[in-house]
Amino acid sequence: MESLELIATGGAVPKHPVHNNDLAKIMDTSDEWIFSRTGIHSRYFCEGDETVTALAAEAARQAMERAGITSDEVGCLVAATCSGDYATPAESCLVQRALGLPDDIPVTDVNAACSGFIYAAEVARGFLQESEKPYALVVGAEQISRFLDMTDRSTAVLFGDGAGAAVFRRTPASLYHHVLGAAGGLEINVPGAASGKPEKVSMDGKAVFRFATRAMRRSIESLMEQSGKTFDDVDWVICHQANSRIIDHVVRRMNAPAEKFFEDMDRFGNTSGASVPLALNDMNEQHLLSPGQTLLLIGFGSGLTWGGLMLKCAPDFRAE
Ligand code: COA
Repeated sequence: MESLELIATGGAVPKHPVHNNDLAKIMDTSDEWIFSRTGIHSRYFCEGDETVTALAAEAARQAMERAGITSDEVGCLVAATCSGDYATPAESCLVQRALGLPDDIPVTDVNAACSGFIYAAEVARGFLQESEKPYALVVGAEQISRFLDMTDRSTAVLFGDGAGAAVFRRTPASLYHHVLGAAGGLEINVPGAASGKPEKVSMDGKAVFRFATRAMRRSIESLMEQSGKTFDDVDWVICHQANSRIIDHVVRRMNAPAEKFFEDMDRFGNTSGASVPLALNDMNEQHLLSPGQTLLLIGFGSGLTWGGLMLKCAPDFRAE
């Protein structure tokens, strides 16, 4: 199968940030507790007419504009989400409609929660093998705030809303490795409407922490082993932005270069399937990405899903 290389990024968040101090007004918590346990100071929550579709479409449109590609060049659209605006149609179809993409390409969603973008990129790579069009549009978009139980301070403080998008190009030659897995666990879940239980996030925080650190290590080790590369060959590790303590733990255990692990959960919180593409876009806007760089993208989350990609920014990557 041919590889993917990264061409451009996009991102979008709701207008209003919600600081830890704002949460401290409605629940028994503090900026000090949240930041010291998670690295999060602030996140965004959708308000009024802000929707997953609006955020996803904005991020996708930006990625396409930066890539300089037309709708006719997009060979597939895959969205990673577990909080789409409709149960059906898929969020990706709503984005297709918003962007006016043609009707002769595969368009679908992937629900792998916080690993969603990694899974979605692999699904898109599969679609592109059969396509005459070279580009894949992959979006991660969430409104997890809809599912937060504001009486459960141990989960409500962790999550935020947002969207990130990437344009990838199919290429025969570029460095590309992937690993995907899932452990079939309920340790972090949102019950469906038919269960009769509240549709709210519930989580065994300590179990998820243990899973997350193991999953991150396993993904990184697999990608290094497959590629024969080491951290010296990698420019950036972009992990799911759940919690800075999870990343710190892995960096210590792997004796890895901490400065290569990007973090922006301080401003966005855990945006689930949006977090990896939103982080990519944040890095791009901070001028940290450039053509030819080698990236590790690592996801873990509800499912319990996990996985990673090793890939390159294209020689003509649209750096901001
Ligand atoms: N503010 C203040 N106190 C809080 C709090 C909050 N927001 N949330 C929990 N506490 C309290 C608890 O009630 C408990 O108090 P007690 O000792 O009086 O009972 C105390 O803090 C410790 O709680 P505990 O659950 O043991 O905290 P912890 O150190 O395990 O941290 C998490 C909780 C959620 C931050 C941590 O388990 C974690 O990061 N897990 C991974 C979560 C994650 O990233 N999930 C998404 C993965 S995709």
